Amino acid sequence: MKIEVLTLFPGMFSGVMSESMMWKARDRGLLDFAARDIRDFAGDKHRQVDDTPYGGGGGMILKPDVLVRAIESVKGDADAPVILLSPQGRKLTHAVAAELSQLPRLILVCGHYEGVDERVRELAISDEISIGDYVLTGGELAAMVLIDAVVRLIPGVLGAEGAQDRDSHAHGLLEGPHYTRPPEFRGLGVPAVLTSGHHAEVERWRRRGALKRTWQRRPDLLASAALSDDERAYLAQLDAGEAD
Ligand code: ADE
Repeated sequence: MKIEVLTLFPGMFSGVMSESMMWKARDRGLLDFAARDIRDFAGDKHRQVDDTPYGGGGGMILKPDVLVRAIESVKGDADAPVILLSPQGRKLTHAVAAELSQLPRLILVCGHYEGVDERVRELAISDEISIGDYVLTGGELAAMVLIDAVVRLIPGVLGAEGAQDRDSHAHGLLEGPHYTRPPEFRGLGVPAVLTSGHHAEVERWRRRGALKRTWQRRPDLLASAALSDDERAYLAQLDAGEAD
């Protein structure tokens, strides 16, 4: 996958994109990443990228001529989605990340100040994504969140093939608890089933752990999760206080 980011602060991406899984994805040739400075596309010698809003009011607006020139230059003739990160976009979910992870190329545009001139949306933006109902000072952190959520779903990026399948949200449920050595820590043990060697029992325990955690913390997710009759019965038992 090729990801190009248009930003006023390309340096913000260096740490995140040079460590851990994002670096591994690049190192393995699975991700081609570039952060491009919007200021390089400014036409004047002051490299001005923003201006005051028509009609008054505070804040600065990213200029349409500069931003559209930047997008068109990066995009070239090839087809690629151009995604604006903004609090007004559709919300980033696992399903959106999975959808984007199938694409060969993404262009991400980071807004700043009060936002972008509306004509940029009309002329050059094909999608708009928000990472949550709060306002960041710019789209950069949101772009990094999106990149991380998308790139880890590209086959081959995470070591254990298929580990993503168990992620919280991958099947509409939160993940249940996990344990590692030591077998006892400050008086707390590990559920015996995990050291029993019975794979089917471990799977059943994990699924029930995921159901219980979701029931406790995000019961809203249960309405749209795909559940078996046995699992629905378990949830009814939890509701009735008859299961643990
Ligand atoms: N830019 C500012 N706030 C944002 C948000 N919540 N999501 C995406 N981009 C943003």
